[in-house]
Amino acid sequence: MIFTITVDGPAAAGKGTISRALAARFGLAHLDTGLLYRAVGAKAAEGMDPVAAAEGLTAADLARDDLRSLAAGQAASRVAVLPEVRRALVEFQRRFARREGGAVLDGRDIGTVICPEAEVKLFVTASPEVRAHRRWLEVGGDAAQVLAEVRERDERDMNRAAAPLRPAADAIIIDTSGLEIAEAIARAAEPVARRIG
Ligand code: CDP
Repeated sequence: MIFTITVDGPAAAGKGTISRALAARFGLAHLDTGLLYRAVGAKAAEGMDPVAAAEGLTAADLARDDLRSLAAGQAASRVAVLPEVRRALVEFQRRFARREGGAVLDGRDIGTVICPEAEVKLFVTASPEVRAHRRWLEVGGDAAQVLAEVRERDERDMNRAAAPLRPAADAIIIDTSGLEIAEAIARAAEPVARRIG
């Protein structure tokens, strides 16, 4: 079975939680594509050329334990504006999306650029304040700074020329601002269950 679910949306909207839950419920493989950009960003922050980093990315690069920080998120969104970096990561993501057995991919451009032919496309969002609060619960620190970083990253992701963050025309929008996790997962699972039959 070839079956792809794309989950796009802004920072800390709940894409990861929803994607992992869908993968577990429907027995699909899951790829957090943000991790690819975070790993490239981390190498670029260490002085490596970002395009070379993207072209030579290894499994060990993705297993680093410093990729979830706010700084890594910022570094990711800075290298994510580079068309050559994005191009170097396309083929791996496309192959993952259309692998036998089905896949869920979460990111920014999965439904629009990586896999426009996906069977189910979701766009998961929430207000900046709600998203910043969730991220602050994960990383701690100064709440106002976390909100500022979320806004800055949204701004860069939505306004870049290469594969900007936006919902695909046929994406189902799920606003998780006022939703419990279980409710958000239930809404996301509904179109999948309908499509899989
Ligand atoms: O977890 P969170 O939503 O905060 O971020 P992420 O999904 O790990 O993505 C980190 C950054 O990588 C984003 O802010 C984007 O700039 C970039 N990214 C992208 O451009 N395209 C993707 N498919 C995934 C991430």
